[in-house]
Amino acid sequence: MNLKPSTLQAIDEVITHYPEKRSATLPLLHLIQEDIGHIPDEAIPWIATKLGLQPINVYEVITFYPMFRRKPIGRRHIKVCRTLSCALLGGYKTCAAFEQEFNTQLGEVSPDGEVTVEFVECLASCGTAPVVLIDDDLHEKVDVAKAKQLSAQIKAEAAQRR
Ligand code: FES
Repeated sequence: MNLKPSTLQAIDEVITHYPEKRSATLPLLHLIQEDIGHIPDEAIPWIATKLGLQPINVYEVITFYPMFRRKPIGRRHIKVCRTLSCALLGGYKTCAAFEQEFNTQLGEVSPDGEVTVEFVECLASCGTAPVVLIDDDLHEKVDVAKAKQLSAQIKAEAAQRR
């Protein structure tokens, strides 16, 4: 598994915080997902060995928590809030605009590999709904026009990289 040295260091450190190594399963999964965007198959035996568990113990945790992804995602992760305030103020239309802009569907990697669009629950910014989190950046009052503008920005950044 190809983890960054800083992730490996964080993993070794976090394990020392728990008297029982097995309690570090969740933090380890979060660190791995943060680094590579999802939990690949090889992470399961890797974590099990690290924590002295059976692979099935790690697998059970992954399947219990919906926030862990088993498939890779696009380079950019677009999370659209669909909780009450955002839903009432057009979050679903915002989401559809992103899907259309990148010719993709919820939870899939867009054909250009650039984005994955997903719904999430309340992002704690209900007063500025609809709200969208792109990677770690929060965007407020994202109506369809703003979704198109943000999409154009992502596409321009992608073109620069090529
Ligand atoms: S309802 Fe969307 S941020 Fe709270």
